[in-house]
Amino acid sequence: MIWLIGCKGMLGSEVARLLDEKKAHWVGTDKEVDITDPDALTAFEKSVETSSYLDTSCTDKHIKWIINCSAYTNVDKAEEEPELADKLNNQGALNIARTARRIGAKLIHISTDYVFGGNGKEPYTEDMEKNPLGVYGSTKAAGEEAIQKEMTQYYILRTAWLYGYDGKNFVYTMTKLMNSHDQIRVVNDQKGTPTCAIDLASTIIKIIEKTDNATEAFGKHSAPTPGIYHFTNGGETTWYDFAAEIYKLGKKFGRITHECQVNPCTTEEYGANVQRPAYSVLSKDKICKELKIKLPDWKVSLEKFIRGERFKYE
Ligand SMILES: NC(=O)c1ccc[n+]([C@@H]2O[C@H](COP(=O)([O-])OP(=O)(O)OC[C@H]3O[C@@H](n4cnc5c(N)ncnc54)[C@H](OP(=O)(O)O)[C@@H]3O)[C@@H](O)[C@H]2O)c1
Repeated sequence: MIWLIGCKGMLGSEVARLLDEKKAHWVGTDKEVDITDPDALTAFEKSVETSSYLDTSCTDKHIKWIINCSAYTNVDKAEEEPELADKLNNQGALNIARTARRIGAKLIHISTDYVFGGNGKEPYTEDMEKNPLGVYGSTKAAGEEAIQKEMTQYYILRTAWLYGYDGKNFVYTMTKLMNSHDQIRVVNDQKGTPTCAIDLASTIIKIIEKTDNATEAFGKHSAPTPGIYHFTNGGETTWYDFAAEIYKLGKKFGRITHECQVNPCTTEEYGANVQRPAYSVLSKDKICKELKIKLPDWKVSLEKFIRGERFKYE
């Protein structure tokens, strides 16, 4: 049995879809089971063992995996609500890790490139020193450490520049702006890698499958080793080039019908309130080797996303 926490969020809803597609035995919770309340987590976990809403074919009601896609994710607002951000990203992560350890479940937790300060020039590896710039990054970094102190059977996946069909994200924001403005400005001095939530969701499922299928027959080391991993799509770009690609593909697939000029600007010219990492490219060598996967290039995944039937922005 898999317990997916944050099942209604942008990433969580993609994981939920995949679990359904795979006909996995899983239960999902979101805000109604508050991760900041340890008793709520315990009560839910206990209810799963006796619950009647589970599929009758599901005989194993023991939760073996917890996937945590819930978090406080509003980077700007976190600066005004540092306590709430910490409550979710740090204390919430700890509560989930404690629950996982108590019931003997493995944990997959999602973290972020924002744990790094962004002054690097080479892709960040998992063991590089963290140096978060703001409240969001600091609270996510604290959440990682809380999990690491609490348990050993964790997979912390740091990702970046995430977009998916069910949530607010850069691709939808740009599409909306490009359909309503004659020109827009996008920063051209911050580098990173866009990540399609579907690709990350597939990787989460792969970790579970590889671990659960690891037997002597597959060789002793076929299960991915618990620890921190980086996952984004392949390649790197700037927000401006990302936006330019969205415009090109949006035009090609009829998502953008308005003429809009996309202009580059510097972070300083743009004048954002919250400092963001200038360089946040993550090295994915570890996850590629461990799971024996190839990463889809960000442009390939973006095209599939924009072409996809589920594309809908408000
Ligand atoms: N989005 C990105 O660009 C990005 C980049 C790097 C890493 N990440 C990480 O990736 C993960 C998934 O991000 P996402 O963008 O999919 O997040 P999201 O869409 O904001 O989803 C988070 C979910 O958690 C729920 N939630 C909020 N408070 C809760 C609580 N107290 N108890 C239980 N659930 C609660 C939210 O409900 P409400 O919506 O009702 O509040 C939402 O459904 C997060 O760990 C995030 O830090 C995201």
